[in-house]
Formats: sequence, structure tokens, C-alpha cells
Amino acid sequence: MAERRAKVGILISGRGSNMASLIEAARRPDCPYEVVLVVSNVPDAAGLAFAAANNIPTFAMSHIGLKRAEFDALVDGALRDAGVEYVALAGYMRLLSPGFVEKWAGRMVNIHPSLLPAYKGLDTHQRAIDAGEAKHGCSVHIVTAELDDGPILAQAEVPILEGDDADALAGRVLIEEHKLYPAALAQLVRGK
Ligand code: GRF
Repeated sequence: MAERRAKVGILISGRGSNMASLIEAARRPDCPYEVVLVVSNVPDAAGLAFAAANNIPTFAMSHIGLKRAEFDALVDGALRDAGVEYVALAGYMRLLSPGFVEKWAGRMVNIHPSLLPAYKGLDTHQRAIDAGEAKHGCSVHIVTAELDDGPILAQAEVPILEGDDADALAGRVLIEEHKLYPAALAQLVRGK
């Protein structure tokens, strides 16, 4: 009998290329999860079109004018209505309220473009170049109340090359993100 697939909801704010990599990985019959909902706090986020084209329900609503906890409660309701068991943040550019984080404790992951704990926050590629680092990369971690914190599930390294600018480096890191995120989420769901 086929393995029961865990239901995943993905939160995005923009391009959604990591979301797309999770959706594409879930097409494989041996993938232990399925994507049942994509949520965006930006109603015209580019990633929504990809989700819709792949027949994945979307919940898109601007956070503007709502208190953080109020907005998060609406998102939480949409996730629960869809039967979501695990949440994957994929370029979701909103800080989460403590109550939301608490509800999804241990079942919510994020991908961040740095070798955490180094370079939390924004502009990670430029900051790594400016610091003269030899390597950079990406991390998938469990989401806790602190930004870009929480137990690290998986990392991939990318060398910083002579003459790299932030865009070139970001492009090479992104290739690794698209491999790392589906693999790390599958591991979490399998309980490994
Ligand atoms: C990625 O670099 C991700 O690591 C970071 O935000 C970016 C989102 O890109 N959290 P995309 O929307 O997944 O293409």
C-alpha cells in the first residue's frame, strides 16, 4: 500500500522558486508529502500563478491593516481548513507572531540563504562577500520565535568565487536551495 503522504502548506511572499521545487518534488510517487495549500501575504505574488497552474489551492490575502496576530490567525485557519500538518516558509517575508509559532512548533520549517548561524536576516550574499568568506550556502531549520533561528535540519555549501557579486552568488546558492529544501522536508516528515 502507498505510504500516507503528510499534508504540507507553503507560505510565500514573492517569486516562489523554492515553493515550486517543493511542489515538483511532491510529484514523485515516493515523496512522503503532498502540497495541499499555498498561502501568500502578497496577493499578486508571482509564485501564486505557479501554484494555481499546478492545481494547488491558494489563500492570498494582504496583511496590510491587520495586527500581526490577527493576520496569522487567518493564515492558521486556512492551513487547518486544508488539513495541513507541516508548514514550509519559502521566501515568506513576514515575522510570525509567537502564538502562530507555538501552534506549529516542530512542524514548521524555513529555508535561509546562509550557513546559519552566520548571516541571519537580509542581504546575506553581499554580507558574506564583504566579510571575505570562502564559502556561503543555505540552511533549512525548524522555525522558533527568533528570526532565522531554531534547530538546523540540513545545510548545503557553495564556494564564494573570485569576482562573485551578490547576484551571481545568490544564483548558485538558489540552485542548492532547490535541492536541499525538498530533501530536508522529506526527512522531517519521515521523522528522521
Ligand atoms: C530564498 O533565497 C530563500 O532562501 C529566502 O528567500 C528567497 C526566496 O526565493 N528565504 P523564492 O521566493 O523561493 O524564489
